[in-house]
Formats: sequence, structure tokens, C-alpha cells
Amino acid sequence: MSTVGDAPELSLDAPRDEVLARAAALIGEAWSSFDRARPGQPVVDEELRSMLREPLPDAPEPVTQALEEAALILDESIAQPRPRYFAFVGSSGLPIGVVADALASCFDANLAVYAGAASDIEEQAVRWVGELIGYPVSGGAFTSGGTVSNLTALAAAREHSMPGTRSRGMRDRLAAVYCSEEAHYSVMRAVELLGIGAANVRAIALDDRRRMQTDALAAAIDRDLADGITPVAVVATAGTTLTGAIDPIAEIGELCRERGVWMHVDGAYGAAAAALPELSDVFAGLADADSVSLDAHKWLYLPKACGVILVRRRADLHDSFAHEENYLPHEQAEPHAVDVTLEYSRPFRALKLWLAFRAHGAEAFRRALRRNLRQAQLLHEQIGRHDDLEGLAAPELSIVPFRHVPAGIGDADAHNLHLAQELQRDARVYVAPAVIDGKVYLRPCIVNFRTSDEDVIAMVEIAREVGNRLAAG
Ligand SMILES: Cc1ncc(COP(=O)(O)O)c(C=O)c1O
Repeated sequence: MSTVGDAPELSLDAPRDEVLARAAALIGEAWSSFDRARPGQPVVDEELRSMLREPLPDAPEPVTQALEEAALILDESIAQPRPRYFAFVGSSGLPIGVVADALASCFDANLAVYAGAASDIEEQAVRWVGELIGYPVSGGAFTSGGTVSNLTALAAAREHSMPGTRSRGMRDRLAAVYCSEEAHYSVMRAVELLGIGAANVRAIALDDRRRMQTDALAAAIDRDLADGITPVAVVATAGTTLTGAIDPIAEIGELCRERGVWMHVDGAYGAAAAALPELSDVFAGLADADSVSLDAHKWLYLPKACGVILVRRRADLHDSFAHEENYLPHEQAEPHAVDVTLEYSRPFRALKLWLAFRAHGAEAFRRALRRNLRQAQLLHEQIGRHDDLEGLAAPELSIVPFRHVPAGIGDADAHNLHLAQELQRDARVYVAPAVIDGKVYLRPCIVNFRTSDEDVIAMVEIAREVGNRLAAG
């Protein structure tokens, strides 16, 4: 009988230490290149393009060569950690988070069932997020981000408002979810998935600070109650994606309490700023929310994916997500995270936030947030200094939309859309466009700890330079 050799398959062709040292060097080179803005973005050349067309390799290549090529591809990709990346609400790849990700995937714990200390760290990290933003957490979990956190919260709210729906289904029952006109569209997607129906999202009108109008909200809920429609939840946004507006959480909370409606705060972008005592007025009422979403991969600077859902009553998550399966008997006293989350296999996302809090301390995060907030004010001032720029009211947080309106420009919307495309081609700064009140703006978001004041000023100057060039034809 022939025997199979003992050496495991899938071993590399170079010693482990050598592979690790090379990988560490490549990460170090990337970090150095993120320290300062680079003059442009390397273009994807023909050599790389042809490599990317190659079919599945059957035989191995030297691992160090493959590593070098992976690093090259990454260098030619759009990386959000660069200091002049201002598009969307980006993440900044905080170095300790990168190290934590490597360690977490090395040990590859599954945060579905109780995984020993890793599960305990996740619980501790959830509590620490609550402490940071002043929210009395009773349960929660790390998620892939705001989309899944919002879905998780709304699933819990649905079961809370209509017990038994998870098993019976909605049947003919009508229900509604309320949010501002500028809530993130993940709310709409959650409502679709939960069978409530997109038509039953009540998009409440905005006030002059782009916040949900509470009178209109109260009227919408009362109308639904009178019509026999169950209000499932109000989603208050703490930092809208478009302009960073913060809905009046305290007022919304009060009217939710009066009517027995769940209040979810979507703070995927902005809730981190609740860590700042000087912003306690705008975040007042956050502690009364039934659930809160916060993405540490947004304004706590960590690499993706690092979302968190926090709830006041852990039982609400359990009531919506727990299952008893034959292959998953609940033989331990320790709770299984899968009973309070949507995913089964779940990576150890909490480690990067836990390690970041330990390595930097919460105060360093507060300082970094304040720096971004000051930079947003600086950008607002810069916009005001130039006649050819048009902005909005002073930013609440760190999103500062503006548009280029040089004298004599005919179609300012077409001009700004073209400008956003040209800026991305130019690649000295990366800014995305957005439509606000029907007009096209550039929409810089300042959420990167590496961004300097000089980067902010450069963005304005480059936008004007490229914009003037386009306007001149
Ligand atoms: C307010 C808000 N909620 C939810 C999300 C979705 O988050 P994610 O992309 O992490 O799923 C975003 C994304 O920008 C957001 O700004």
C-alpha cells in the first residue's frame, strides 16, 4: 500500500520568515507613501493589463514575485488612506488596524459561536464604543458596516413592533419606517429585505439645516397609526452621507417614546464625533436610542470592514436572530454571537478597534476628530474667500460640498460634473461629485487622520486650477 507523504500541501517555495519580511517591507513602503500626498496616480500600464488577463495558473510561481506584483497592483489602485483622498466617507487604514487584521486572519477565529477570549474581546470592544460615544450598551456586535448594522437594527425593530413576524411573515400587515429625505439608502434596502416594502419608507422633509423635520415626522407617524399602519422604527441620521447633517435626536427620541416607536440612530459616519464633549448638544438624546450604527472604518480611521451595531437591550437582537439548530446545540453558558447577528462565519473584526483603543487611547481619537472638524471649517473658509466657489452653510461635521462657478459659466452642473471627472483623471486629489437640491457639487469628506491643512488648501487650489482650465475650453 502506498502512503501519502506527511508534508502538508500548500507550502510556499520560500522560507516563512522571508515571505513575512518581504510582506512587512511592502506594507512599510505603502505606509511611507501615504505619509504625504503624491503628485499623481500611477496609470495601469500595458504590462499590468496583460498580467490581469492571464488565466488561472495551474503551477506555482515564486511567492515573492507574486507578492511584488500584488503590491504593484495595489499601488495602482485607488487607496482611501492617501491624505488627499476626499471622496465618499472613506476609511484611512490606521496602521495598528492593518496589523490587527493580519493577526486576526492568522488565528482565524470564527466569531459565530463562542470563540473564547476573542468573543470576550468583541463584547469589550462593543462596550468601549458605547463608552466612547456615551451610549448605554447592553449588547451588540461587529458587522461589515453601516448597511448590515442598519439592517440588523431594523430587523430587531420589526420583531419588537410586531412580535412573531420573523416566523409568520408580514402577511397583510402594513408597517412603515421613517427617516429623513437624506438618510442613507441602506435604510431603504433594509426595508425592502425585511418585507416592509420600499413604498412604506416615509421620507420626512428637511429643515433649513437639512435635518429631519420633527413636526412632519410626528404627523406622519400619527397618520399611519390612525390608518392602522404599524410604525416599526424612526431612523435618525447622525451625520448624513450627503452633507453631514445631524437629525434632532433628542426631539425625535421624545416623540418616539410618546408613541412607543423604536428609534435607531444611523451614526455610521458621524456617531464617532459624539465622543467630543463640545458636540454634546447636537448629539443630545443619543443615549436614548434603541439602537445605534457606527462604522469604525469611517471616522475611527480603521481599515474596512469594521462596523458596529449597539443596542440598549441585547434581548431585542436575540429575539430577532436566535435559532436552535441540530448542528449548533447551545451546550455552553456563553452566548453565541450568531444568535444576535445576521452572519454565521464572522471574522474577528473587533480586534482592530480593541487594539487601536489600547495602542492610541481614546483621547488620541478625540484629537484626530477635532483636527478633521477644524479642517472642515478651514475648507468652508477657503470656499468663502473665492468668488468662483459656492458652498453651503457652515458644516455640522466634516463634509463640505462646494461647486466651481467661474464668471460666464453657462451650465454650472455640467461644468462641475466634468470637473469631478477631470480631477479624478488629474489624480492629484480625489474628489467625488454629488447632487444637492438638484445642483452638482464636489463633495469632499474629511475623515482621514493623515490629511493636513495643506492638503485641504491644495484641494481647493487644484479644483480651481482644473476648473478654470475647463472653463477656458
Ligand atoms: C450614514 C450612513 N449609513 C450607512 C452607510 C453604509 O455603510 P457601509 O458602506 O459601511 O455599509 C453609510 C456609508 O457611507 C453612511 O454614510
